[in-house]
Amino acid sequence: MRIAVVGTGYVGLVTGACLAEFGMFVTCVDIDKKKIDMLNNGEIPIYEPGLDVIVEKNSKAGRLKFTTDVAQAVKDNLVIFIAVGTPPKEDGSADLTYVENVARDIAKNMNGYKVVVNKSTVPVGTGQRVKKIIKEIVGDKFRFDVVSNPEFLREGAAVNDFMRPDRIVIGAESDEAVAIMKDIYSAHYLGEAPFVVTNIETAEMIKYASNAFLALKITFINEIANLCDLVGADVHKVAKAMGMDGRISPKFLHPGPGYGGSCFPKDTLALCNIAKEYGYNIKVVDAAIEANERQKLLMVDKILGLLGKEKKEGSLKDVNITILGLAFKPNTDDMRESPSIVIINELLKYGAKIKAFDPIAMENAKSIFGDSIEYSKDEYSAVEGADCLVIVTEWNQFRKLDMEKIKSLMRNHNLADLRNIYEPKKMREIGFNYVCVGRSKI
Ligand code: UDX
Repeated sequence: MRIAVVGTGYVGLVTGACLAEFGMFVTCVDIDKKKIDMLNNGEIPIYEPGLDVIVEKNSKAGRLKFTTDVAQAVKDNLVIFIAVGTPPKEDGSADLTYVENVARDIAKNMNGYKVVVNKSTVPVGTGQRVKKIIKEIVGDKFRFDVVSNPEFLREGAAVNDFMRPDRIVIGAESDEAVAIMKDIYSAHYLGEAPFVVTNIETAEMIKYASNAFLALKITFINEIANLCDLVGADVHKVAKAMGMDGRISPKFLHPGPGYGGSCFPKDTLALCNIAKEYGYNIKVVDAAIEANERQKLLMVDKILGLLGKEKKEGSLKDVNITILGLAFKPNTDDMRESPSIVIINELLKYGAKIKAFDPIAMENAKSIFGDSIEYSKDEYSAVEGADCLVIVTEWNQFRKLDMEKIKSLMRNHNLADLRNIYEPKKMREIGFNYVCVGRSKI
């Protein structure tokens, strides 16, 4: 099976490398020559555990190639995955320019039957739009099928998620296309792969519905956590007992400073926009977006409360705040929509002096905060002279800090544990003035 993957961003590169690992011959295409040169030199432009190993292995085996020549890639391959970006426009709707450009490139270079697979997260109806664009150019000259095959990859676990997916959604309009897609994914399975075959629109909707539901789930437990803090309950016990109900499940019930990343914020907004286009207001998702924005700001209120400071400009003048964790979650260098951005910018607004440390997102953070904050080389130097330590991302290395040492390095002993990685009682025993999310009063 010969496959082209257009777009070597996060989704495209993981898809291309993993399909090569399945034994397919894969050509990854990108218009960014610098990126392709890097990949051809064995350098990986993104941080993703395990990806470097399979890129190297499959490149050496001749199953994985990188090129800027989209025309040749279309001509040489039967299946073409579209995995280009769909960034949010100002109004929150997805910008489809890149997807549409690739559709035109495919149409112009067609030389036989092709399966065009939408891997990018695209609004419901995009599959039909891609079909129309190609049809307008190709006419009846060549047959082709458009397929929606959404990805459900988590950053930091993408290779594993691709290799062992909970489900493989195939939205298609012909048996031939379904059979080809099943062939691609079955290569990796001994038993039957977990396929869900639907029409194109359903497959597109599954992606949005799944991400919006997960965003709702996180937001729900964040709201319950906020309430737990008010009434003196322990949100971890609440979540544990809730999760024991098989209908609820224990996953994605961990409270924190709000969800971030490239998917949940973008996809929830896009879903609301799709609904609006059809004259419908999808209220629960709207509410989740609003509550998630509020969650980030409530974290700032928590910090102000901990420090006994007012919510007004200049109130944090001469206050040193240390931020541990900048990425939107551990095991990624991705800063997109990270709660740390809102939290730090708000603290700066109140006049705080910020020192920050993240194990791998520092470079990306520098391009966001510039020299408005100070960057530390590790956790301990970051807390020197601090009045308050704020843990924003739950990197494993932050879970086993020597908290006695941390305390001795700080000027004042305030700890805002926004990922609940420490035991409140223990922290108070050490002498911290401690808050977290949903266990602050236990
Ligand atoms: C997500 C989906 O999991 C994936 O299926 C989809 O295709 C893309 O979006 P990702 O954005 O990589 O993946 O991260 P994920 O691990 O799902 O976490 C998203 C955000 O939610 C992070 O900010 C994380 O910290 C937060 N989160 C997650 C919580 O606050 N609590 C939880 O219980 C789980």
